[in-house]
Amino acid sequence: MSFVIVVTRAIHPDALSLLNQHGTVRLWDQPHPIPRGVLQDWLKDADAALTMLTDRIDDGVLNDASSLRVVSNMAVGYDNLDLVALTHHGILATNTPDVLTEATAELTWALILALLRGLVPSREALLAGEWTSWSPDAFLGTEVSGKTLGIVGLGRIGLAVARRSPAFNVRAVALESGKAVPHASPFPRLPRREFLESADIVSLHVPLTASTRHLVNREWLDAMKSGSFLVNTARGAIVDELALKEALDSGKLAGAALDVFNEEPINGHHPLASHPRVLATPHIGSATYETRRQMALRAAGNLVTALSGKRPPDLLNGEAWPGRTQRFLNDG
Ligand code: DGY
Repeated sequence: MSFVIVVTRAIHPDALSLLNQHGTVRLWDQPHPIPRGVLQDWLKDADAALTMLTDRIDDGVLNDASSLRVVSNMAVGYDNLDLVALTHHGILATNTPDVLTEATAELTWALILALLRGLVPSREALLAGEWTSWSPDAFLGTEVSGKTLGIVGLGRIGLAVARRSPAFNVRAVALESGKAVPHASPFPRLPRREFLESADIVSLHVPLTASTRHLVNREWLDAMKSGSFLVNTARGAIVDELALKEALDSGKLAGAALDVFNEEPINGHHPLASHPRVLATPHIGSATYETRRQMALRAAGNLVTALSGKRPPDLLNGEAWPGRTQRFLNDG
């Protein structure tokens, strides 16, 4: 039987060719996200969908998707998926863990180094003709060496960031989370107060959930060390952006590097992007050629595995597995 596979953005050709071997691919290849109404329409007779973090998958788009068996999200984060709705409809949901760990850890360190050493303002000054001579007090930044890096979320990405810290002579500590950690780690776990009092740089690596939304709020920012830095490569809504702006305005925080925002995309008019203490980038944590190919292949692999009736390796809603049979039995 030939499956209808919806793909909501142009992905790596190697992944598209894998999908083409398993069905008819309906590809949204525009440079902007698929409009919700079009997605809803395309899903009506689709068997599978490969989606992006920009696609909100909830009851609204699933109600008429009566043959849909799997939604394979090309991202490790899946806050765009309503797992309760997917499970309710008996649709499997998957993500792409592991393949973007190194790329995101690299970006985190690039942001830390660039933020503390003032790379972007230095370049802007040079381009503006403001580099008139070497001067003892020009373009000064903060030394990274000797600092303490506080990791919030010692999962795959948080651990990859922490593991790079000895190379920069930085001490990494993690926020105690109360959760069992699936790996042995040499990094001390500190209770919140001690963590925030000791970290010169706080880096966020938790998923966006109901309990992490606005985790970094006014109270959190007040408890951070004066003159410290915040780095967010996870999800924008983990931070209360208004409270962050106030902490930057007052100088309580020396700076923030933000790759993610509450509403995306943003432009230079956004109060944080245009803030002199902020280094803002357009959600590029996983944006390397190598990683985006791996993400696409991993997402395509999950989708194809599910269509073949097997349990996909990155299944998010195990509860939907028993209920899947209804849709999969339609094959016969
Ligand atoms: C993810 O996979 O969740 C990342 O945010 C994509 O860059």
